[in-house]
Amino acid sequence: MKLICVSNEHEMSLEASRLIGALVRITPDAILGLATGSTPLGTYGELSRMFLEENLDFSCIRTINLDEYIGLDGSHPQSYRAFMAGYLFGRINIPPANTFVPDGMAEDIEGECRKFDELMEQMGRVDLQLLGIGANGHIGFNEPADCFTSNFHCTELTEDTIEANSRFFDRREDVPTHAITMGMRGIMNARRLLILASGKKKANAVAEACFGPVTPRVPGSIIQLHPDVTVIADWEALSDTGLFEEAE
Ligand code: PGA
Repeated sequence: MKLICVSNEHEMSLEASRLIGALVRITPDAILGLATGSTPLGTYGELSRMFLEENLDFSCIRTINLDEYIGLDGSHPQSYRAFMAGYLFGRINIPPANTFVPDGMAEDIEGECRKFDELMEQMGRVDLQLLGIGANGHIGFNEPADCFTSNFHCTELTEDTIEANSRFFDRREDVPTHAITMGMRGIMNARRLLILASGKKKANAVAEACFGPVTPRVPGSIIQLHPDVTVIADWEALSDTGLFEEAE
């Protein structure tokens, strides 16, 4: 695991966008696994700027997203399809047909999950999977559980997650209770994982995921089994790791 410690969220976003930008230049037909939430916002902003000002070309890039809320149409402002359109896809030159986000309104949710498993098989390996981490240790919407789940699946969001995500909705009751998420096989099959974290709220999750036991109780801990992981985190997010204790 490569750990890049930065001073704040802005630096985290710059580092992440440099890495992703370099991949896009070197491999113009790369497959990117993408994440939503507050964490990647700055990274997407910077990638959009690189498209506008530095001719970063996304025309042959393909993307697959980790997850989507069940019950929200892609046009709902809090859907992850709308998030991606607003913060990235609508700001760069990626063809819409190259972007894949599960459909949270699919009549057959199980069928939608199988469709995404098959899609991943057909696309080939994801070159880089971008991940945030929940304060409860989740990656994608793989919530703490008794076992890791391999495939795309429907998951019930934990109270912690619903509470954390309620900041984006008018009322807590409006937060969907279920989501479709990529499972651990899809995540772990990527050639490279890039995990971002900033702020004190993530400190415990980062410490547990990077240095605690590998357990489905802390889903993010599975990254320790991946051969090519880069974590970019700020001081606050690393504050529970014990890495930066001052010498007595
Ligand atoms: P956040 O969420 O980026 O909004 O903090 C991360 C996550 O829950 O994976």
